[in-house]
Amino acid sequence: MSASLGTVAAQSGLTQVDGEPAPGVALRAEGLVKRFGAAVALAGVSFEVAPGEVFGLAGANGAGKTTLLKVLAGLCRPDEGWAEVAGADVATEPVRVRQLVGYMPDRFGVYESMTAGEYLSFYASCYRLPRQHAERAVTDLLALMGLAAKRDEQLNALSQGMKQRLCLARALVHDPEVLLLDEPAAGLDPRARAELRELVAALGEMGKAVVISSQILAELAEVSTSIGILHEGVMVASGNAEQLLAGSEGLEELFLSLTEREDPEGPAGPTTGGLAGEGTGEDEEGAATK
Ligand SMILES: Nc1ncnc2c1ncn2[C@@H]1O[C@H](COP(=O)(O)OP(=O)(O)OP(=O)(O)O)[C@@H](O)[C@H]1O
Ligand SMILES: [Mg+2]
Repeated sequence: MSASLGTVAAQSGLTQVDGEPAPGVALRAEGLVKRFGAAVALAGVSFEVAPGEVFGLAGANGAGKTTLLKVLAGLCRPDEGWAEVAGADVATEPVRVRQLVGYMPDRFGVYESMTAGEYLSFYASCYRLPRQHAERAVTDLLALMGLAAKRDEQLNALSQGMKQRLCLARALVHDPEVLLLDEPAAGLDPRARAELRELVAALGEMGKAVVISSQILAELAEVSTSIGILHEGVMVASGNAEQLLAGSEGLEELFLSLTEREDPEGPAGPTTGGLAGEGTGEDEEGAATK
């Protein structure tokens, strides 16, 4: 990705929201439940993300992060509960949801014989972008991701990290209001991860709502304005990042304290806007401090 991502992003075809981020809610989930046979992947997840907010989603392997993001992207129907993304209902309007969100999956298959430019143009045409608009979006996004020189390279000639960045460009090609990024930093080198954080911050400043999952908790805390910790399908803590982390050494410490594998008291119950369990105090903003 390029060095001055904030500037490049602002000058690209991506929509800049003027002034303060629009008030309201970009994404709202209420009591989402998803089962796979006897396994409960989501056990009643509720949270909200405002325009301009970067919501960092932390959770152990199998906690339900990918399932939650798929449900919010309209790719997986919830068994119970309800979610609205950019004004569209994920269960009854999945096609509209897919038009309104940019989803970056944790795993992706790319068409190896296409070039990077063709790949993005293909997705631009899937979203029915007018041709001139599509050409500009493809050029801008390749520049934004530091892939301009790779435009005519076949995908099988790109490194894993480059494919990852191309996949992120794909999630942005239709200039969505809401971005759902499933472990976008996995496999990226340190510089590319730093640039990803800069890009995510820039997207938030543009007024886009971003949900981003990651296992690299220090870096997730750095980029997030709010945080949710998912444990065995339950959001055991969520709220403003600064307030949530005020009483702990960092997100990793908070995460480890809330997601112990063997808790004789049993797993913590769901709480929105604060930590689950006893002994936590809530302040005015609704994020708990220890
Ligand atoms: N298609 C599926 N069929 C059966 N079980 C599934 C399916 N998808 C997910 N699960 C189960 O749902 C639970 C949550 O999985 P999910 O992939 O959402 O976790 P995750 O938090 O993304 O984990 P990771 O950090 O490893 O990516 C797991 O127990 C998993 O085995
Ligand atoms: Mg996952």
